[in-house]
Amino acid sequence: MNAKIMDGSALARELRADCKIRAAGLTEKGMQPGLAVVIAGDNPASRIYVRNKAKACSDTGIYSEIHEFSENASQDEVIERIQELNRNSRIHGILVQLPLPRRFESDKVIASVAVEKDVDGFHLYNVGSLVTGNAIFPPCTPHGVIKILEKYSVPIEGQHAVVVGRSNIVGKPMALMLLQRGATVTICTSKTRDLAEHTHRADILVVATGKPHMITASMVKDGAAVIDVGINRMPDGKLAGDVEFESVKEKAGYITPVPGGVGPVTIAMLLYNTIEAAERAYARA
Ligand code: GUN
Repeated sequence: MNAKIMDGSALARELRADCKIRAAGLTEKGMQPGLAVVIAGDNPASRIYVRNKAKACSDTGIYSEIHEFSENASQDEVIERIQELNRNSRIHGILVQLPLPRRFESDKVIASVAVEKDVDGFHLYNVGSLVTGNAIFPPCTPHGVIKILEKYSVPIEGQHAVVVGRSNIVGKPMALMLLQRGATVTICTSKTRDLAEHTHRADILVVATGKPHMITASMVKDGAAVIDVGINRMPDGKLAGDVEFESVKEKAGYITPVPGGVGPVTIAMLLYNTIEAAERAYARA
């Protein structure tokens, strides 16, 4: 089989065009959507992500601010800034870029974001809303994966989905979102014994481990939909996914490339959640 390539860049363009129209509508009504991104420390990848998020906002007509803190900043200082942003009526969404410096208690920092501005969906209240099946802000990356599956009419209900990775950002919320849509879900980690036995049963395989090329063709069922969330910088400077694309595409039914798969859709979903937050603020005002 030669897999259909699921084009995340094209889908992201469509989603962003839609966001642009909604943002313009809100701006006309006097409520331009606004996003604040808080970043602490000097993780180079995080800095690139944050810049890309701000650029995506300005391209879409969303106001954005970046709040940068040094590696040595105190946690209280960051929380105080978040509390100011909670009160700022110009700002509808607040995103705390992860990872935070090691000495930070990430849960405590995330808990300081107002629930109605938590566009990442990482606040414990929003995590609870996802668990109970009524997500207030679906986390951007797994939400993007769902959008990709929907775009390519990949059925979810009744299918066996295998998620490799158990992070709070991707693996866990991904499993919950697939479960909510009626999939039978197996959650594996990079340490799972006989991983191939599990992945080989997947109709939908979502991989988010950060281990380049760990999923090979022999681990994939014929015709499966394979979603690669990994973005790994290789020694030659190129980006690689967690899936060995060249071999797996011969076996899968659908596959996302890296780059150009999940990444651009994740950013589109952040814009989407920010607009949702602004529309809700407008409805409350
Ligand atoms: N770091 C890696 N992915 C993400 C994400 O989706 N949101 C935030 N806040 N930080 C991240």
